[in-house]
Amino acid sequence: MAKTILITGGAGFIGSNFIRYILNESEAVVVNLDALTYAGNLENLADIEQNPRYKFVHGRIENRELVLHVCKQFNVEGIINFAAESHVDRSIIDAQPFVDTNITGTLVLMNVARELGLEKFVQVSTDEVYGSLGEQGEFTEDSQIAPNSPYSAAKSAADGFVRSFVHTYNFPAVITRCSNNYGAFQFPEKLIPLMILNALEGKQLPVYGDGKNIRDWIDVRDHSSAVWLAYNNGKNGEVYNIGAESERQNIEVVRAILALTGKREELITYVKDRPGHDRRYAIDSTKIRQELGWKPTVNFEDGLEQTVQWYRDNAEWCARVRSGEYMKYYQKQYEFR
Ligand code: NAD
Ligand code: TYD
Repeated sequence: MAKTILITGGAGFIGSNFIRYILNESEAVVVNLDALTYAGNLENLADIEQNPRYKFVHGRIENRELVLHVCKQFNVEGIINFAAESHVDRSIIDAQPFVDTNITGTLVLMNVARELGLEKFVQVSTDEVYGSLGEQGEFTEDSQIAPNSPYSAAKSAADGFVRSFVHTYNFPAVITRCSNNYGAFQFPEKLIPLMILNALEGKQLPVYGDGKNIRDWIDVRDHSSAVWLAYNNGKNGEVYNIGAESERQNIEVVRAILALTGKREELITYVKDRPGHDRRYAIDSTKIRQELGWKPTVNFEDGLEQTVQWYRDNAEWCARVRSGEYMKYYQKQYEFR
């Protein structure tokens, strides 16, 4: 019989791409548990909502009774935890929701998984738990955990709980730590979709600080294939870094977006830096490549071009996700910069 997997946060950017990926690539049945926060949008899954192998449940991962009920009702084999508060700038304004979802929520999911004896738990974490790099070097799985933002502090705490469950209870978990994702359905508060939409609309492009901070970019479809491998073949207790060797300065990314949208450099506006802004991220993903045979398939320039095209083709989606709550946040975030 096909296995049933609980995907949390499946209505968000990476979760929705992941669900699409595994429905295409496997026979698995997917139960998507999502609270539908400002970042969760069922429209992201409109093309698969009729798929008989897909079920949606509205709710929070901190809700133990609900998680227990869902796991029992659908006879869930394992859990892949994407649900999170995910935006660093929001965590700087208020860290509490990050503690609630990213830490407490993860703990609740693991307690239920343990109680029911589920077979696998994948914690989708981030390279940001390793802090910031200087000009040289890359994060390996053995790099020191040194979070610098409230977001990465909450993700690190969750990783610590996962590690402790493996160590203490022999809990069957793996942790994946991926670099910055881009692609379709990313909420336009993150660098790439924000800059694409502003450029398409001829608005200013707010670059923090000197624009020379470096992020290591990966197409969300490549992240999805790596997480799926980690679920199926990852060794319990292991951490797997995921990255596509695509380091770029923010200003290079912004210039590439201007070129792809045919807009002028004058739209670039340097604004006040993010407090505690990490300078550079770079991932060494040798381990997942060698041990699980993973490799990325999309190079950054092609992926960025496809992403720009996706935002051009999905203007209505963009208009809808940018209404209401998000616009209030946008004003608060940028009016003083
Ligand atoms: P996102 O903000 O787009 O989506 C998060 C989803 O989680 C939303 O659908 C939201 O409704 C849901 N959610 C939030 N709180 C919840 C709760 N308490 N209960 C149930 N659902 C809840 O985030 P994303 O960019 O898709 O990131 C997904 C995961 O990947 C996160 O764990 C994040 O830390 C990790 N990650 C993201 C990146 C990146 O570049 N975006 C890189 C590495 C790792
Ligand atoms: P972001 O997409 O928020 O991801 P993260 O902080 O998790 O890496 O930001 C990516 C980079 O882009 C980061 O160095 C901050 C910078 N940035 C800007 O310069 N301007 C912006 O408006 C945003 C949202 C980010």
